[in-house]
Amino acid sequence: MAGKYESVYRRSIEDREGFWAEAAEAICWDRKWDRVLDDSNPPFYRWFAGGMLNTCYNALDRHVEEGRGTQPALIYDSPVTGTTRTYTYHQLRDNVAQVAGMLRAVGVEKGDRVIIYMPMVPEAVMTMLACARLGAVHSVVFGGFAARELATRIDDAKPRVIVSASCGIEGKKVIAYKPLLDEAIELAAARPEKCIILQRPQVKAELVAGRDLDFAAALEGATPADCVSVAATDPLYILYTSGTTGVPKGVVRDHGGHAVAMKWTMKHIYNVEPGDVYWAASDIGWVVGHSYIVYAPLLHGCTTILYEGKPVGTPDPGAFWRVISQHGVKVLFTAPTAFRAIKREDPNGQYAKKYDLSGLRALFLAGERCDPDTLHWAEKLLGVPVIDHWWQTETAWAIAANCLGIEPLPIKPGSPTRAAPGYDVRILDDAGHELAPGQIGSIVVKLPLPPGCLPTLWENDEGFVSSYLSEFPGFYTTADAGYQDEDGYLYIMARTDDIINVAGHRLSTGGMEEVLSGHPDVAECAVVGVADALKGEIPVGFVVLKAGVERPHAEIIGELIQAVRSKIGPVAAFKTAIVVDRLPKTRSGKILRGTIKRIADGSEWRMPATIDDPTILDEITDALETLGYPRPRSHSDQRS
Ligand code: COA
Ligand code: AMP
Repeated sequence: MAGKYESVYRRSIEDREGFWAEAAEAICWDRKWDRVLDDSNPPFYRWFAGGMLNTCYNALDRHVEEGRGTQPALIYDSPVTGTTRTYTYHQLRDNVAQVAGMLRAVGVEKGDRVIIYMPMVPEAVMTMLACARLGAVHSVVFGGFAARELATRIDDAKPRVIVSASCGIEGKKVIAYKPLLDEAIELAAARPEKCIILQRPQVKAELVAGRDLDFAAALEGATPADCVSVAATDPLYILYTSGTTGVPKGVVRDHGGHAVAMKWTMKHIYNVEPGDVYWAASDIGWVVGHSYIVYAPLLHGCTTILYEGKPVGTPDPGAFWRVISQHGVKVLFTAPTAFRAIKREDPNGQYAKKYDLSGLRALFLAGERCDPDTLHWAEKLLGVPVIDHWWQTETAWAIAANCLGIEPLPIKPGSPTRAAPGYDVRILDDAGHELAPGQIGSIVVKLPLPPGCLPTLWENDEGFVSSYLSEFPGFYTTADAGYQDEDGYLYIMARTDDIINVAGHRLSTGGMEEVLSGHPDVAECAVVGVADALKGEIPVGFVVLKAGVERPHAEIIGELIQAVRSKIGPVAAFKTAIVVDRLPKTRSGKILRGTIKRIADGSEWRMPATIDDPTILDEITDALETLGYPRPRSHSDQRS
């Protein structure tokens, strides 16, 4: 007999519309949809076409009306400022209505874009929800990006208003945001009409007369705004994510499908109930923050935690355990790198023993491959199921997961378990043929994607098709490679493009190569993601200098590191570059980045049959060795 997961999954694929129509009953609609799935214009699919709703109403007002007004909605826990502040649903609704009024007063209306460049403060969450309240489209930009990256997003989203703060606090460092914002606006062609700046006590930002407003002052005089009804298919937000060229892609999220999917996942994947405390230890600048700090927990009537701190150093590796016990967290969601950071400082888990963690029911990990060592360490430490699940900015929720609220399946370390309901996952070879279990290929999802996934890229339908839908017609290309085992468990092995995951942050090596190539002394370069015990992967640059350049290499490398930091941002964690005489290439001139990576990782590698000059690889190996990288475990001269 098929298990519960099996039957729910099968229904989600065989009776898509019935399945999601039922899930949609959990959302309050101003007007019911005409069609659950509008498939009249493939490959563009729209969920709940004709429906009208307001996401903010569903996240806040409805809970107040249904009796949750006094329940904590948001707990702001900030060890870096020594603050803990709780907002009930009632208070959060009123605050958000006020922020919406403030935005309206500066001209923000339905469909306008608002960029939010803010640290992990409650006002950031309020501004996101305030945009949703007005039907305006928010685009949150992660604080660790540099001015140029912010400028690219400003030019693409063309915001009417930018909301920012005077500073962010990263562990012990205070980072002034305003100079970055001013520089970005200077660099951008599209200029916002107004900037609203939250002045934090740590740094006072200089305001530009006529353009900048003080958040607190603007808020004070605002008239609270009501929820504006929008179409289910209208955009709720744009979230930029690394693409293959260094130009970020504006992933669009709609209102209706997103609200339905978010709420559904809380019970069925995470197994939490309204009223439970749910904590995603991520950042609102990433998709995990959008989905699981802000929208899903609030849509489900949970208490969500906004944590402005790190897993270690704020003040110690017991920080997560303190938050879990102090606030009664039932489910924690973070990236494996956070656990590796804790494990490195407290390998025996001594800090965990100081806190009562008995309320914790499960730990979910995502954002990068979860190595079995980290999984086992976390399982042993916490004594709860540790669930690896796999997803992307594009999907907003898990493509593969162990759905604890449907039926917990046996855990296989190294696998994020099976496809989540709604995702018809297949493994294809390059010619588009389905592969047998155990064979590695491109992981794709048969269209249509379930609700919540991107309907398109911002003002770029063509880019949506060329990036995701054209390689295998009828399928969404995840750009992850991997395989499925005999039991249908998925194994995510590698990206098929130039994306790397550094501490769970998604970055493009192509973008870094663009920066390195821009240096006047660099003739050519390659950036590869090299395995790192803490961050999973870190970027390492290999550069060939122009003939005749005689400056000290260390000086040039220092400039390259600084260039990536100031053009992409500190989040790129680009700290290593090596000057080499030549780069290994195929006879047709393609740089053999994969082979460089395997050598740097210390993995087994084979001499590529198409290599132009094999001796170059010895030079690369020697150069890496001088930096302390181990020699590869083995090296076959046999050409493959
Ligand atoms: N604003 C400004 N700068 C930021 C920033 C932000 N919001 N976030 C990160 N940075 C900076 C950091 O200060 C650091 O700068 P540095 O080079 O001057 O030290 C740099 O960007 C790299 O940051 P990070 O990769 O986070 O490294 P870290 O050494 O500061 O911390 C971890 C390492 C593992 C503790 C940290 O990455 C972490 O907590 N990860 C948790 C996982 C997570 O949040 N994943 C997101 C998806 S779920
Ligand atoms: P992002 O868009 O930042 O969420 O990054 C998405 C990418 O991160 C995926 O395409 C994968 O390459 C990787 N990723 C996310 N979760 C996992 C996981 N559980 N296992 C392996 N890789 C993952």
